[in-house]
Amino acid sequence: MKSGANLNTMCVKIVEEPLSRLVEYGVVPIAFEVSTRFRPVPAESGLGGIRLVEEAVDPPYVKDYDATSEEGPARWLRRWNWDTSSWGLLAAYEGSRRVGGAVLARRSPNVNMLEGRDDLAVLWDLRVHPDHRGAGLGRSIFDAAVDWARRYGCVELKIETQDINVPACRFYARQGCRLSAIILHAYPECPDEAQLIWRLSL
Ligand SMILES: CC(C)(COP(=O)(O)OP(=O)(O)OC[C@H]1O[C@@H](n2cnc3c(N)ncnc32)[C@H](O)[C@@H]1OP(=O)(O)O)[C@@H](O)C(=O)NCCC(=O)NCCS
Repeated sequence: MKSGANLNTMCVKIVEEPLSRLVEYGVVPIAFEVSTRFRPVPAESGLGGIRLVEEAVDPPYVKDYDATSEEGPARWLRRWNWDTSSWGLLAAYEGSRRVGGAVLARRSPNVNMLEGRDDLAVLWDLRVHPDHRGAGLGRSIFDAAVDWARRYGCVELKIETQDINVPACRFYARQGCRLSAIILHAYPECPDEAQLIWRLSL
């Protein structure tokens, strides 16, 4: 689908695979270190709203979405009772080694994140192998995800992340996404995390 010519050091190709490859997709670790976080604080003046202030996390810890019960690509299809026939899986390979990828959702009436819209795609998952982060691969996968969504007539890409994922927030901001919502208390199992919703017009 796309060559990795703009990557700094790697020769990576990005291909589309069937969703049945989710187990293999999950071999790429999604875990990252939380050494700083954004803290939502009420704005002090004007009409109110919320500001995100970056603060140190001491001691740092490792966040692994796949380790959370019920989460992780290997479990998604078993857990979901959704129509995922229109979803997409993008896989990045360096040679025969899987080094990253993305999962995209569209046209699933029961998925609230999709807002009942057929012209919206959700970037459900994005991951780059820790050995390959910071070299432009995430950007290439994100570009391939945008191409994928446009190909199916989507006019907007929606992405969920959390205020403890500063690298992902900086990454999405760098890709031109705008922060459209900060939702406090979104995760009963992680009460100290806020949900952040990013959007990109396509
Ligand atoms: C977020 C993630 C996909 C980014 O991939 P990546 O390959 O490291 O990112 P890239 O090297 O392509 O960076 C693209 C841009 O984002 C910025 N960026 C990426 N990581 C960043 C970080 N930790 N801090 C600040 N900026 C960062 C880069 O500066 C770069 O900007 P540039 O265009 O000026 O060079 C990767 O860090 C990852 O897999 N994280 C763990 C999984 C995860 O959190 N996924 C998202 C779930 S919502």
